[in-house]
Amino acid sequence: MGEVDPAFIQAIEHRPKLKFIEAEAIPVINLSVSSLSDTKEVVSQIGNACKKWGFFQVINHGVPLDLREKIEKVMKQFYDQSLEEKNKVKKDEDKAMGYHDGELTKNVRDWKEVFDFLLHNPTVMPASHELYDQELLTWTNQWPQKVCEEYAKEVEKLAYKLLELISLSLGLSANRLNDYFKDQNSFVRLNHYPTCPFPDLALGVGRHKDGGALTVLSQDDIGGLEVKRKSDGEWIQVKPTPNAYIINLGDVLQVWSNDMYESVEHRVAVNSKKGRFSIPFFFLPSHYVTVKPLDELVNEQNTPKYKEYNWGKYLANRKSSNYKKLGVENIQI
Ligand code: SIN
Ligand code: FE2
Repeated sequence: MGEVDPAFIQAIEHRPKLKFIEAEAIPVINLSVSSLSDTKEVVSQIGNACKKWGFFQVINHGVPLDLREKIEKVMKQFYDQSLEEKNKVKKDEDKAMGYHDGELTKNVRDWKEVFDFLLHNPTVMPASHELYDQELLTWTNQWPQKVCEEYAKEVEKLAYKLLELISLSLGLSANRLNDYFKDQNSFVRLNHYPTCPFPDLALGVGRHKDGGALTVLSQDDIGGLEVKRKSDGEWIQVKPTPNAYIINLGDVLQVWSNDMYESVEHRVAVNSKKGRFSIPFFFLPSHYVTVKPLDELVNEQNTPKYKEYNWGKYLANRKSSNYKKLGVENIQI
């Protein structure tokens, strides 16, 4: 075994605990409803989970299992290839979507490789904050098209369903937030966390909060996702639930709700025995949207806690040295 590459080593206080502590479970919510009172119950469960955890899982979500199995198969075939093959669809200055294995979270390297693809192709994005008004960049997809697109369309439907339920849970009308997603630049990421010889030192993804509106995540049966419990700051493993999706709120929902809901920190532990795969769908507003606390949720007693910001500019600002021009660094969105 080679030397431990220092680029991957987490500071002591951020290293994963290797022993799994059986803990309180992140709520599992059944989305199948057949009456208005069922819907009210689901809305109330979602509201409670958003307040307590910022995370929940859903079952009976409507995304066909065969599509999920298909994309998992394609993903495994993709990652089985040599680095040389994978680099043929490398994400670079001209192609913001594609393969990438050098991601940093808070300046420490993540033990993972990713492949990103867009839901709507092509999507126009601001090239950088400075160039925002002058130069727009087209994000285009690379391999593997069809399976990814089929899958993404179904997950998008689920994302809208969740957006509506969350909107209801905030006391708003079901479609109150939909217009913010008219020209969304949402994307899907295929994550591969290979086996790691030093899982006590590294993380698959370092601690972070998601910046977008919602994340709809499929994880396999290996486990590794950990959520920071709001009540005491303990890291809690999200135990895999077969065919469920894990949902978490991003910063945009925190701002819209004026802190009624929070975007919660999470990270991914890796292990030395088995590789892990996960597929997050990052549901992001249209780039021209101005994000601010919703008028209906602020008043004299509860004044806005955030200044407004433009989503596209914010996204363009999250840039790394690798992706300066694109502003797509570490879209731990
Ligand atoms: C996961 O792989 O479980 C989550 C990935 C992320 O939060 O970026
Ligand atoms: Fe995340």
